[in-house]
Amino acid sequence: MTVTTSFLKQLPKVELHMHIEGSLEPELMFALAQRNNITLPYDSVDALKQAYNFSNLQSFLDLYYQGANVLQTEQDFFDLAMAYLKKCQQQHVQHVEIFFDPQTHTDRGIPFEVMFNGLHNAFEQGKHEFGISYELILCFLRHLSEDAALTTLEQAKPFKDRITGIGLDSSEVGHPPEKFKNAFAAAKAQGYRLVAHAGEEGPAQYIWDALNLLNVERIDHGVNCTQDPELMAHLVETKIPLTVCPNSNVRLKVFEKMEQHNLKALLERGLKVTLNSDDPAYFGGYMLENYLNVQNALDLTKEQWWQLTANAIDATFTSNARKVELYQQLDKVMAE
Ligand code: ADE
Ligand code: ZN
Repeated sequence: MTVTTSFLKQLPKVELHMHIEGSLEPELMFALAQRNNITLPYDSVDALKQAYNFSNLQSFLDLYYQGANVLQTEQDFFDLAMAYLKKCQQQHVQHVEIFFDPQTHTDRGIPFEVMFNGLHNAFEQGKHEFGISYELILCFLRHLSEDAALTTLEQAKPFKDRITGIGLDSSEVGHPPEKFKNAFAAAKAQGYRLVAHAGEEGPAQYIWDALNLLNVERIDHGVNCTQDPELMAHLVETKIPLTVCPNSNVRLKVFEKMEQHNLKALLERGLKVTLNSDDPAYFGGYMLENYLNVQNALDLTKEQWWQLTANAIDATFTSNARKVELYQQLDKVMAE
């Protein structure tokens, strides 16, 4: 069976690795800057887009944090999330697990509740209006200290019932998982599900450390696991999901070209690979654009698309009842 664009469009999609601040499109960034009387260091949307020419993770993060400065009010955070949810609706994304970075906002004086209420209200509306289920995952910024992470965990306490998990993102190399051992232990004690970025630019050892020192249940990215055959075997055996982000990896030069991406090889080796957009406004598109680019470059089979989707459903933090619904939607499209 050939894989058509229409099949890829129709597939029910589950996104497990998406930073809400990374869905800030240049047009919205300019609109929010105007609304909040902020001057951006770019003359136009086009000039900003020209700057999205990254050499590595850090060169992206510098612009990503700068862009987030336009987010000031609860309404700004709501509008940001609602724009993403509208994309999800268009692309048949049915369930999302969303990263947010409180420290990016609290460190510039935006109260935690302003950011959180805006995001949460949007995802509630998305659930009721579009039927898109969601979970929220708070990420610690790893270039900051463990004490700062523990402060953020404390600030999150009043909102704990609405936050499913804790993650770890930002500059990877030089900020190993070990640095956040205590913060992750505290998060686990409070009942959070745990994930961490590891093996995006960092070595395979960071993946081992995220698993063994932080006790995470999923690895975000993880593509550098191929450096260590023993780790590969461990990931297969333990069925630890990897939330892989192909467009991101190409844009940040983790792989030079999509044709060289190891997603298909990892899938064929039996790893629980899932496909995600990471920062869609910065990396050339949302879930569907990732699907189409992967298909063009790597020519997956229909069964492999089923497997990627099934892996994502299995890897979610949602209820078993919701997983059953998602599988029913998948079965329906596979049978068409
Ligand atoms: N924050 C947003 N996107 C990220 C990525 N790809 N890696 C690490 N931190 C991030
Ligand atoms: Zn990420």
